[in-house]
Amino acid sequence: MRVLSGIQPSGSLHLGNYFGMMSKMITYQEESELFCFIANYHAQTSVSDGKLLARGTIEAAANFLALGMDPEKSTFWVQSDVPEVQELTWVLSNFTPMGLLERCHSYKDKIGKGIAANHGLFAYPVLMTADILLFQSETVPVGKDQKQHVEVARDIAIKFNNEYGEIFTLPQPEIDDDVATVPGLDGQKMSKSYGNTIDLFAEEKALRKQIMRIVTDSTPVEEPKNPDTCNVFQIYRLFLDKSQQDELRKRYLAGGTGYGEIKKRLFEYFIATFSDARARYEELQADPGEIENILAAGAEEARATVSQLMGTVREAVGTC
Ligand code: ADP
Ligand code: TRP
Repeated sequence: MRVLSGIQPSGSLHLGNYFGMMSKMITYQEESELFCFIANYHAQTSVSDGKLLARGTIEAAANFLALGMDPEKSTFWVQSDVPEVQELTWVLSNFTPMGLLERCHSYKDKIGKGIAANHGLFAYPVLMTADILLFQSETVPVGKDQKQHVEVARDIAIKFNNEYGEIFTLPQPEIDDDVATVPGLDGQKMSKSYGNTIDLFAEEKALRKQIMRIVTDSTPVEEPKNPDTCNVFQIYRLFLDKSQQDELRKRYLAGGTGYGEIKKRLFEYFIATFSDARARYEELQADPGEIENILAAGAEEARATVSQLMGTVREAVGTC
């Protein structure tokens, strides 16, 4: 099975990114043909500082490699190193009804938040469609917020195939219900743009602060607490298996444990879970040349993968 996903280098990567997408991708590389990239073109819709984008791109790549992305087992590259994706975006734009894009929640939400509507923001799902279709992706692991974009990719592929024959594989989003939306410190969706994240590679001191800032109610220490409405529990449970979750649930219901203590344990759990990745990240940061070499090799592999399909597309539309 061919699995593909990308992540935008538009800020520090957080637990929502990890559980929503990154950890799944890292597992997939063991059992499928995995394609994973840093979506720097998409990040241009929110980052205009070129130096910041370039630095963020290398950082996001280092984050992924530190978490276990293995370039020997997968194809791992930076989106802009495969220019065919822009060519295909244009081709697909001609099979994209305006209404399809106008209905996209992500676009409407951004406009609703006061972000100026421009063509990049509007056409974002077409570029994402090109990412997906160019690699004949079957499965696209994403968080819930990206589901509609994968459906758009499917719709566009169907329209194109109707005209030219079965050229593109129809992709399926893959969303794990358990982690579809990881809550942030305030209980809303964890997101860079809401400033409510727990960052995977923040310094320990900053990380402790983030975890201590998780919003809780004012139930006193000795009283029973409701795990289902508690933001700390909803984040903590992501690290635990079923029996560990049940145990923590019992502690909540029994009373006698304060939120401060639970947060402290969560912090310790977090550090223990990510300690190897955090150490590897330090090593990688000390050797940016190594990251660049990995990405250059990944881009070459990615371009080789798409060249035949791109030839078929050019021939179909008459631009060869
Ligand atoms: P952000 O909302 O912080 O800007 P992105 O949009 O860059 O995050 O998301 C990158 C990937 O991580 C996507 O697959 C997205 O669905 C997933 N993701 C982001 N935030 C969450 C979350 N809170 N819960 C689950 N998945 C998430
Ligand atoms: N839009 C996705 C996000 O913000 C990132 C992305 C770009 C992507 N291209 C993709 C995800 C293709 C999956 C497949 O998270």
